[in-house]
Amino acid sequence: MSKKVEFIYLSQEDCIKAGGLDMKGTLEAIQKSFELHGKGDIVQPSKPVIRWGGPETEETRGRIMTMPSYIGGELDVAGMKWIPSMPENPKKLGQPRASAIIILTDPNNGFPLAIMDGTIVSAMRTGAATGVAAKYLANPDSKVAGIIGAGVQSRTQLMAVVNAVPSIETIKVYDLNREKTIQFAAEMQKELGVEVKPITSAEETIRDSDIVITSTMSTYPYVKYEWLKEGVFHSEISFWDTAPEEVRHYDRIVVDDFEHVKHHGVDVSYRAVAAGYVEESEVYNLSDIMLGKLEGRKNKTDKIIFNPIGMSIHDVSEAYRVYKNAKEQGIGQKLNLWENPHWM
Ligand SMILES: NC(=O)c1ccc[n+]([C@@H]2O[C@H](COP(=O)([O-])OP(=O)(O)OC[C@H]3O[C@@H](n4cnc5c(N)ncnc54)[C@H](O)[C@@H]3O)[C@@H](O)[C@H]2O)c1
Repeated sequence: MSKKVEFIYLSQEDCIKAGGLDMKGTLEAIQKSFELHGKGDIVQPSKPVIRWGGPETEETRGRIMTMPSYIGGELDVAGMKWIPSMPENPKKLGQPRASAIIILTDPNNGFPLAIMDGTIVSAMRTGAATGVAAKYLANPDSKVAGIIGAGVQSRTQLMAVVNAVPSIETIKVYDLNREKTIQFAAEMQKELGVEVKPITSAEETIRDSDIVITSTMSTYPYVKYEWLKEGVFHSEISFWDTAPEEVRHYDRIVVDDFEHVKHHGVDVSYRAVAAGYVEESEVYNLSDIMLGKLEGRKNKTDKIIFNPIGMSIHDVSEAYRVYKNAKEQGIGQKLNLWENPHWM
């Protein structure tokens, strides 16, 4: 009797065919995995990072992260994302900074379900983390969003925010690269059906914005707390845009998982705690706010920063959503791990 073990391989094009760009679906997957995070129904070890120097070299030389997890509940799936970040790729190769592979595993027998492109999944889930956070932490009548950075992540950040906060009417965008700013604004306006204006400075983009997103490869801080409008929700998904001494002024500091933030040791929420500007107890996990264990926004005028490190459970839940669609629709290439195991 054959003891064949088979899995599917999904290229980036397959992932897109299987609904990989459906932000509503991604938001649901990320909401679910945040809830399971809050209930403790996950296993998520701290992520090992390969880097060729101190934390600051991630923005210059690059890094490779390994992100494994198991998610319980009705999902009951394990997986891992392997994600290199090579900052010179866009300039040197005309290729994206990040590329990823995801492995999904059946936790009951340990066999692979899928090996797939993780680049789309990763960008979509990072956008959706901001989207879910905005749903809980932004003022629901927010009209203007300002985004710094016009790279890959900024696309999914905006896709998620307009889905999660439908009152958004105008988006302002600024990138150091003017040409990229203009092109990004035109493309996103067409895609989102919301006005997207190219702006010429970070300050002008941030001032008067109800929602601010910092999503750059900046190697230095430039965000000034005084530029932020009262009631702002600020999602900082990159690492160096806001200085630790500015972070202490926010009314609420929220992350996805502070243990992971601490372990990585780069995010500004960690550096603010390490420098003694903020107590560790003042940094909340979003899932605790979602489940009502901790208080999120207290007043309409509160300025709130969300600074996620990025969790493997989000990659795995989103990858599993795409995988299930692909299986249903017969998308992907079947591959064998073995026809019969060589050794028993
Ligand atoms: N927290 C998370 O879960 C998570 C997940 C994925 C990516 N990220 C981070 O998001 C960031 C953006 O990633 P990406 O894939 O979009 O990168 P990218 O290279 O595609 O785009 C980065 C953009 O930032 C611009 N930029 C650099 N410095 C700037 C500055 N000072 N002001 C304005 N613009 C500036 C660049 O010109 C570039 O267009 C990276 O730091 C990455 O590590 C975080």
